[in-house]
Amino acid sequence: SATIHFMKNIEHYDVDPGNVIVCGDSAGGNLAAAVSQTLAGRSDLPKLRAQILIYPGLQALDFNLPSYQQNRGVPLLFRERAAFYVLQYLNGNASNLDEVLEGSHIPIDIKLNYRKWVSPDNIPEKFKVRGYKPRVLLDCTTEIYETVKRFCEPNLCPLLAEDAIIQQLPESFILTCEYDVLRDDGLLYKKRLEDNGAQVTWYHLEDGFHGIISLNDYCGFLFPAGKRGLDRTVKFLKRPINQLSLCFSH
Ligand SMILES: *[C@@H]1O[C@H](CO)[C@@H](O)[C@H](O)[C@H]1NC(C)=O
Repeated sequence: SATIHFMKNIEHYDVDPGNVIVCGDSAGGNLAAAVSQTLAGRSDLPKLRAQILIYPGLQALDFNLPSYQQNRGVPLLFRERAAFYVLQYLNGNASNLDEVLEGSHIPIDIKLNYRKWVSPDNIPEKFKVRGYKPRVLLDCTTEIYETVKRFCEPNLCPLLAEDAIIQQLPESFILTCEYDVLRDDGLLYKKRLEDNGAQVTWYHLEDGFHGIISLNDYCGFLFPAGKRGLDRTVKFLKRPINQLSLCFSH
């Protein structure tokens, strides 16, 4: 609602309607992706120039994807916490956390239906060499599914949006970290965008962990990988201006 209000009243803010970019990290990356999808379908509003998704959380169907297994105990975001937060976001409580973690919160037929988008098969092999074990699909009871079925709505899990929406998305920048449970959410969304012909710039921090960008020069913390990630993000942000000045110099 805030973004739609902003876009409708853009002159009031003296902002160039052709140069609006949404950006967010972690849960904010989820919001930014959902906002981009909502605006993609609105012909009455200016198109976004781009979306920047920094280690976004984009799905809640599978907390046993390779990155969730590999980085289950890596700070700052433990696997159990990721499921806890997303349940709090959904329901305001963390009931059925155990089922969500083991994967018995969504019926098998629905999981199979989304397997084309949410599956370890869509994660490149090189990301699976580090301690990953394939798991059998579990079924779930209707009672549990009732409490979490909104996980299948793209507004909550943008990875599940239809191709027709993904195709209309603006240019994207996605940052992922190797030591992050949410790494595979980013990788899967990158694949969806690419499969639908959307333009994606992907930057992967081989030595990064979840939250590293916000720890840049915060309380004395400074990680070279975080600085690199931030620099890349800024470089992407500044690119349209660079292209413009390039035009003028010609
Ligand atoms: C958690 O939230 C759901 C959805 O609002 C509700 O059905 C359920 O009763 C709640 N559980 C607890 C323990 O409060």
